[in-house]
Amino acid sequence: MNDLHISQRHMRLAETVSRQLVNALTRRKLQPVFSEFYITHLAGLTPLIAVLDTAKLGDHNPYTSQDLLHQLSTDLGGLPVYLSNHSGIRYVILLSPLPKLPRKVDLPLDIPRGELAVGVRFSGQPVLLEWETLLHLAVLGATGSGKSIFLQSLVLQAVRDEMKILLSDIDQTTFGMLEGHPNLAAPIASTPQEALGLIEQAIAECDRRAELFRQVPERPQKLGEYNALMVKQGKEPLPRVLVVLDEASSVLTALGGAKGAMGQALATLGWRGRKFGIHFVFAAQEFTKDILGPVRDQVGLALCFRVGNAQMAERMGCKGAARIPESRPGLAISNRHGPIQTFFVEQSALGVRQSLLPTLTDLEQTLFTRALAEGGRLSRARVIEWGSVTEWQARKFLEAWALRGWVSKDAKSDNAFMTTEKIHDLLTNHPTAPTASNPLQPSPTGLEPKN
Ligand SMILES: Nc1ncnc2c1ncn2[C@@H]1O[C@H](COP(=O)(O)OP(=O)(O)OP(=O)(O)O)[C@@H](O)[C@H]1O
Ligand SMILES: [Mg+2]
Repeated sequence: MNDLHISQRHMRLAETVSRQLVNALTRRKLQPVFSEFYITHLAGLTPLIAVLDTAKLGDHNPYTSQDLLHQLSTDLGGLPVYLSNHSGIRYVILLSPLPKLPRKVDLPLDIPRGELAVGVRFSGQPVLLEWETLLHLAVLGATGSGKSIFLQSLVLQAVRDEMKILLSDIDQTTFGMLEGHPNLAAPIASTPQEALGLIEQAIAECDRRAELFRQVPERPQKLGEYNALMVKQGKEPLPRVLVVLDEASSVLTALGGAKGAMGQALATLGWRGRKFGIHFVFAAQEFTKDILGPVRDQVGLALCFRVGNAQMAERMGCKGAARIPESRPGLAISNRHGPIQTFFVEQSALGVRQSLLPTLTDLEQTLFTRALAEGGRLSRARVIEWGSVTEWQARKFLEAWALRGWVSKDAKSDNAFMTTEKIHDLLTNHPTAPTASNPLQPSPTGLEPKN
């Protein structure tokens, strides 16, 4: 025990919990080889930390499964049990009730690129996830619990990150304002058949990307690797793709459930999409075992807003979501991060082009403005001189911008890039608007719209 001020009650509770934890592991034929127990203060909480001596364990997996964490929590009378496996394996057991999360937090503007901000934790820290590791998302919640606002926050971020987007919105209440947006790779689906069409389009895009990957001798295994290689060769990178299905259960049910066409297509996209940077999110008021089954393993993040059915939340690894009160829309339990207050976006934000633009840092603003004024060329030397950065930083910046399609390799010089139309548009604030006759803007690198 450390020398922080810990109440007598917490001390006694910690002792009891430590004993119970040892018994709980033993009962499951797991080894209770704890090297240390300690209480600490962490982000306003008082958790007991139980450190396993990993050197004495065989296979680590049984000690870190979500199932085990749930069972331990049950054995400990419902105290929340989390896993911290940054170094070794530690169980983090909360000894005090959870403090309150804020009721409403606006989506911040300064989210790092390539990352997804989900919401805030008790500590006030945002939950930031990388698309690459996130795979796909499942979102569950009763009516009015905050699903659609959450999906809007995802789409807003995806647009800012210059991803391509496919949307299904059967009720036509969630994404109407995005109709015709240049990042959409197809019109918004409003029937189950159209939703199936979107998934098929995304699978076709996997095929197309598989072929592109095959043509690269280095055999990239992830979109990030492929894009890095393309940029080196002065070619255009492929954008990530986000497929969003609101009201997914009704779509699935209408098309024959998990074994029907939609269930099968989703399962296929689930395992194929990960390599090619194609991610999907499905949201619904309920998920039966049957529906969740085929895609469960492909879901990196499950998020349950308020639900009526405790079992349904538990099945998704989001125990406790049934206890969220009706008065707390936007509050959710995540399978990976516990309780999160998800970010709020104004409905109208999606309609405002300004809020959908990627934000340029001051440095970028300065560099690109100057580059454009001087003919558009941006050599490494210019970045170093104009931006007062090191050679290494300049190289990293240029690589990152090339990945975003903001600069492309200057054919005439090895270390120089040219700013692209995109940057011109961003700076002059006139993003290419979709025309009425051609709302889809087919691009050679993006998704081809399906006819
Ligand atoms: N993150 C949030 N923070 C604060 N309030 C929120 C948040 N999300 C939703 N709300 C409030 O809850 C209301 C309902 O949210 P939303 O439309 O997202 O629910 P839903 O789960 O999609 O419901 P349905 O299943 O009926 O479509 C919103 O209009 C808003 O007032
Ligand atoms: Mg909704």
